[in-house]
Amino acid sequence: MKTLTSISLLLVLAGQYASALIRKSHTSTDPLLQYVLNTSLREHPVLTKLRLRTMEDSKNVMMVASEQAQLMANLAKLIEANKTIEIGMYTGYNALNLALVIPENGRVVACEINEEYVKIGKPFFIEANVEDKIDIRLKPAVESLDDLLNAGEAGTYDFVFIDADKKNYDTYFEKSLELVRKGGIIAIDNVLWGGRVVNPTEDDLSSQAIDKLNKKLHKDDRIDLSMLTVGDGLTLAIKR
Ligand SMILES: C[S@@+](CC[C@H](N)C(=O)[O-])C[C@H]1O[C@@H](n2cnc3c(N)ncnc32)[C@H](O)[C@@H]1O
Ligand SMILES: *[C@@H]1O[C@H](CO)[C@@H](O)[C@H](O)[C@H]1NC(C)=O
Ligand SMILES: *[C@@H]1O[C@H](CO)[C@@H](O)[C@H](O)[C@H]1NC(C)=O
Repeated sequence: MKTLTSISLLLVLAGQYASALIRKSHTSTDPLLQYVLNTSLREHPVLTKLRLRTMEDSKNVMMVASEQAQLMANLAKLIEANKTIEIGMYTGYNALNLALVIPENGRVVACEINEEYVKIGKPFFIEANVEDKIDIRLKPAVESLDDLLNAGEAGTYDFVFIDADKKNYDTYFEKSLELVRKGGIIAIDNVLWGGRVVNPTEDDLSSQAIDKLNKKLHKDDRIDLSMLTVGDGLTLAIKR
């Protein structure tokens, strides 16, 4: 029994910490990462509240890391992002993070399928006084992206964050590329997937999908590209 428990614990740890590169501040005690937070994180007080509330939820490993969210907020500011899309909002840490840096009439189209998660986030959007900027679409994200395209919004978005189900990543990327303007940024989360993108096993469809997209983007001349080792791996694709 004891051995079995240890083995499953090891497997969980291996999945999450397969490499020293892969860590999120709210799931890691790495002192160097704590140092990075201690000396650079400037988290809005309502974001802090939402993060702490989300950490009460066992699924909190899904939440984007604060240091990564801050990077994305800075990128959004840098390109003066106004219209943004969050694909996979969960409890809304990054949706709120983006809403806080875009102008008054800016928009975060937040795609999510699980209403329970949305309910957790909403009170914090209201508390931060940005609820009008966050346009929650409670249905499969592919449908929400098609709705935007059908509404004639191709080429009008500035920033997209892809962070939902991995098997649809390629579809999310292609639709996002249609929706963003030239110079717009598509940020893709979990591109290292706990290290499992290196030689994914035959039954590991999520790792295979991410690996396939990573390799496709490498030679995709429609974008400029960087793959960062922040969090669980973050790709930045900038539309040419
Ligand atoms: C990793 S979490 C997103 C974390 C979030 N970006 C944040 O800032 O904390 C992925 C989310 O995608 C949602 N999701 C999964 N499949 C989806 C789909 N087909 N359409 C929309 N959302 C989906 C899940 O319910 C989950 O909340
Ligand atoms: C970071 O800050 C916390 C809280 O102030 C402190 O306990 C910890 O020692 C600091 N760690 C580092 C590496 O600076
Ligand atoms: C920002 O987006 C809104 C729609 O959400 C639009 O009405 C407005 O014109 C945009 N502003 C700029 C500066 O593009």
